[in-house]
Amino acid sequence: MVTATGCWPRSRIAGTGSYVPARVVTNDDLAQMVDTSDEWIRQRVGIRTRRFAADGETSSDMALEASKAALQSAQLAPGDLDMIIVGTITADMPIPACAVFLQKKLGCKDIPSFDVSAACAGFLFAMSIADQFIRNGELRNVLVVGVEALTKITNFTDRNTCVLFADGAGAVVLSRADDDSRGLLLSTRIYTDSALAESLCIPAGGSKEPLTVEGLQQYRNKIYMNGKDIFKIAVKKLTSASLSAMADAGLAPEQIDWVVPHQANLRIINQVAARLGVPYERVIINIAERGNTSSASIPIALDESIRDGRIRSGHTVLMSALGAGVSWASALARL
Ligand code: ACO
Repeated sequence: MVTATGCWPRSRIAGTGSYVPARVVTNDDLAQMVDTSDEWIRQRVGIRTRRFAADGETSSDMALEASKAALQSAQLAPGDLDMIIVGTITADMPIPACAVFLQKKLGCKDIPSFDVSAACAGFLFAMSIADQFIRNGELRNVLVVGVEALTKITNFTDRNTCVLFADGAGAVVLSRADDDSRGLLLSTRIYTDSALAESLCIPAGGSKEPLTVEGLQQYRNKIYMNGKDIFKIAVKKLTSASLSAMADAGLAPEQIDWVVPHQANLRIINQVAARLGVPYERVIINIAERGNTSSASIPIALDESIRDGRIRSGHTVLMSALGAGVSWASALARL
């Protein structure tokens, strides 16, 4: 299918939205649970506070709020959507997908709705898939969501992980761009390297180790992470994926208006920005108040910085994320 201008269709980000739960949890609150301190968390990670979902607040509840805001900013209704893709590792239930419950809450039906499991890279994986459907001419409007209720899979006796994770949702509506006057998605890149598959995982609860009472007592249904392994590979892969996205679009670092990185660790963000040669002032950082919300982190940061006026129409935005798998991804968009 070619457009009226004789080109293959392209995608653009037509609207964004985000949601974070009301409950604010400080580093001092966590220091009541495990042997940690506000100073250690701020210095080693960069987090000051984070949001936790309320009891009974599900991923699809949070996704709904972000999606409604994204639809409103795209000036679309749920009935205009052709597909829903949710990047998440914390669906409401093991089956069906979180996207199914989101579809139900949005009140649309008979459109494909499914989840993508790529941990912190889940949102960018989902956006890349949506982009393929739009570029091949099949679909016009795809809702792409990153949502996590990570606190439901966090071991609050493990100081290595429980100080990092948080909850929230972000969404974009990706739409067919009939011309390039209102922004374009310029590149998406997705990757997986299985060498560190067990360095960041939930050991039990799947077909390898069905959950038992002993497994529950040992927190084997919660996130385990070897942070050092992940840190090293994150800096390397996020840099290379970002460079690939820029090469796809023929852009140099000085032509990037904003970098919107996954918010896992301030030190990772700073090291990647330094390697890319992008100044600190052009990097969107909200880890201090949001923590690591995995697949929700990029769409939350993107939406917040569009709404506060930092990212504006015409700006070029580079996104990148890495998480369990390890899976990593980048995307470059002109808003
Ligand atoms: N408070 C106080 N001390 C702590 C804490 C804590 N919360 N956590 C660890 N420590 C201690 C360790 O026990 C260790 O002590 P020791 O030297 O006596 O053994 C010391 O601090 C250093 O520990 P490291 O693990 O080496 O700390 P590091 O500087 O690597 O920071 C961190 C750990 C923050 C996890 C970092 O490695 C990191 O950010 N890794 C990458 C995380 C990431 O990007 N994950 C991917 C996304 S998540 C997902 O996909 C769901």
